Amino acid sequence: MAIMRLGRVQIRVPNWEKSVFYYKNVLGLIETARDENHVYLKAWDEYDHHSVILEKADIAGLEHMAFKCEFAQDLDLYEKKLIDYGVAVKRVPKGTRIAEGEAIRFQLPTEHWVELYHEIEVVGNGMPSVNPDPWPDHLVGIAPPRLDHLLVAGEDIEAATRLFTDVFDFHMSEQLVDDKMEVKLATWLFKTNTAHDIAFVKGPNGRLHHVAFFLDEWVELRKAADIMVKNDVMIDIGPTRHGITRGTTIYFFDPSGNRNEVFAGGYITYPDFPTITWTEESIGKAIFYFERELNERFMKVNS
Ligand SMILES: [Fe+2]
Repeated sequence: MAIMRLGRVQIRVPNWEKSVFYYKNVLGLIETARDENHVYLKAWDEYDHHSVILEKADIAGLEHMAFKCEFAQDLDLYEKKLIDYGVAVKRVPKGTRIAEGEAIRFQLPTEHWVELYHEIEVVGNGMPSVNPDPWPDHLVGIAPPRLDHLLVAGEDIEAATRLFTDVFDFHMSEQLVDDKMEVKLATWLFKTNTAHDIAFVKGPNGRLHHVAFFLDEWVELRKAADIMVKNDVMIDIGPTRHGITRGTTIYFFDPSGNRNEVFAGGYITYPDFPTITWTEESIGKAIFYFERELNERFMKVNS
């Protein structure tokens, strides 16, 4: 059984009209479906029907994250494994969401909802599978090729980290610990071969720190920053570089107050990748390598 990747995030957007415009025209995701309270979007190089669902809501934040499994029977196997681990599991019937099959749903110790699914309509990336060019025509805005990772906040990140490593066989690429090296302040976990598919940071339960989209290279971050300024997007910080993951980054906000990131580079990982540890005294370089200090907004604001 195998989780393959972070497949989707469902994001609550109270500022509905402006947020839908932003995700389609500034961030540059492609709309694939909508109903009264949701818009379904994909990044251009994703093959599945959607990776982001915007939900009309009263408050911003993350409704749930979902990981795609390789096989249909993985849902049964993970359901049993979760129940044996002491986690309650619900079934989400096929057809609950457009173009999706059944899912299982459970809550993390950090109060975030997680779903696992296998079946989703494949719509392709807009290019042929034989002799394709490197990118399709008519891309709009920043146009990241894919969803990359998310960072969520919670009180007991040790328990959430253990659940991902024990039940789902994720590995920890990096951790930030207090100066006595006793308490985890943040963890970065991977299942694919990127530096992280999900990360946890100590903070209030159930909160979203950011959802990140991949860009190929540093020069695309500079262009992304231009597009943000042209469109009056509120930038949190960047372009800059992380010590952790070594990726380059910009953090910015959607019109509803959810933080987004564009992330380029970073090393690749394998199951035998050793965990890198950063101590709190080096937190500045760990998070923002060039600035060597954190800004208050990055530490305090989440949705
Ligand atoms: Fe990130």
